[in-house]
Amino acid sequence: MRIEPLDASAHRATAEATIKGELPFGRVFTPHMVVIEWDKQQGWHGGKTVPRANLSLDPAAMSLHYGQEVFEGLKAHKQDDGSIVMFRVDAGAERMQRSCERCCMPPLPVDDFIAACEALTATERDWVPQRDGASLYLRPTMIATEPALGVRPADTYLFFVLATATGPYFSKGFSGIRVKAEREMVRAAPGGLGTAKTGANYVASMLSAVRAKAHGCDQVLWLDAIEHRYIEETGASNVFWVEKGTLYTPPTSETILKGITRDSILKLAPELGIKVQERRISLDDLLAGIRGGSISEMFGSGTAAVVSPIGEVMVDERIVKVATGEPGPLSKRLLDGITAIHRGRGPDKFGWCRKVV
Ligand code: PLP
Ligand code: COI
Repeated sequence: MRIEPLDASAHRATAEATIKGELPFGRVFTPHMVVIEWDKQQGWHGGKTVPRANLSLDPAAMSLHYGQEVFEGLKAHKQDDGSIVMFRVDAGAERMQRSCERCCMPPLPVDDFIAACEALTATERDWVPQRDGASLYLRPTMIATEPALGVRPADTYLFFVLATATGPYFSKGFSGIRVKAEREMVRAAPGGLGTAKTGANYVASMLSAVRAKAHGCDQVLWLDAIEHRYIEETGASNVFWVEKGTLYTPPTSETILKGITRDSILKLAPELGIKVQERRISLDDLLAGIRGGSISEMFGSGTAAVVSPIGEVMVDERIVKVATGEPGPLSKRLLDGITAIHRGRGPDKFGWCRKVV
């Protein structure tokens, strides 16, 4: 499907002034969006770039009642030579297809997903900030629109892409966050929706996140749903730790989102001379390792979070500091390694950047 970008030069002055300022995550929306519709007769059709506006949605739209909604998050970066690239847009497109399959929604062809993101990024080229830690965050989203109250897959859908100019996900930037280990509630159970990027997983995590925040924590550290023992991920990122110089992350399962940043780190770490392995770890072993000093670093990885050092783990109202609580050297090297690819400062050996303009 061809999706034409719009000439948005009338917004240039506003864009340039805005992106110089504070860019809290997910607040500074750009003036356009891309929409594509689906129905049984035509499939995906009518892709276009339009001014960002309220949606007209019947109050019986099935996404509002039964949660048929999936989304993605990916970033466009301005490189040092001024070109704009999207990072691993194909991986986002493929993951959305898997999310669609789990939620009984019609998968959007990978090429159409990429065309939609490309058209919006090209339209909003003036909104891509250049400073490190800032980017254009794209939010491709799909919702069921058919008005009907029976529980079944809807027969009409809307896909849209929004863009926001954004700085770091955590307002404190690259410094240690505090996570709260959740021993009671679960985010995802075997057989459930855990690997789908669907709003249902996020509402499932919200009460725990609100309680964690009341304890001064930035994120929930989720444990497995069966034994409530093994580390899974945080509310918005996968998790890594450094033990005796080796980098570890839990293997993904049907309860952990297959993070694209996680995958990038697994591939990039060996290139940087960092040994990396997938391994399960229990909360008890994690804490013993932190207290005994064999675990020297922890961080979350995500599109929004990039590499976010975890400085403290709160367990049953006690706080355990990871080493000094400050970002560790491997976290910093990995952040620098990924940033170098985003910014075009080093070779894009894996072909992760797709040039838009
Ligand atoms: N886990 C959860 C629950 C997330 O929301 C995210 C963010 O998208 C991640 C992991 C990391 O995934 P990715 O690196 O693809 O952004
Ligand atoms: C992302 O990192 O893209 C996310 O989706 C995390 C969060 C904002 C939900």
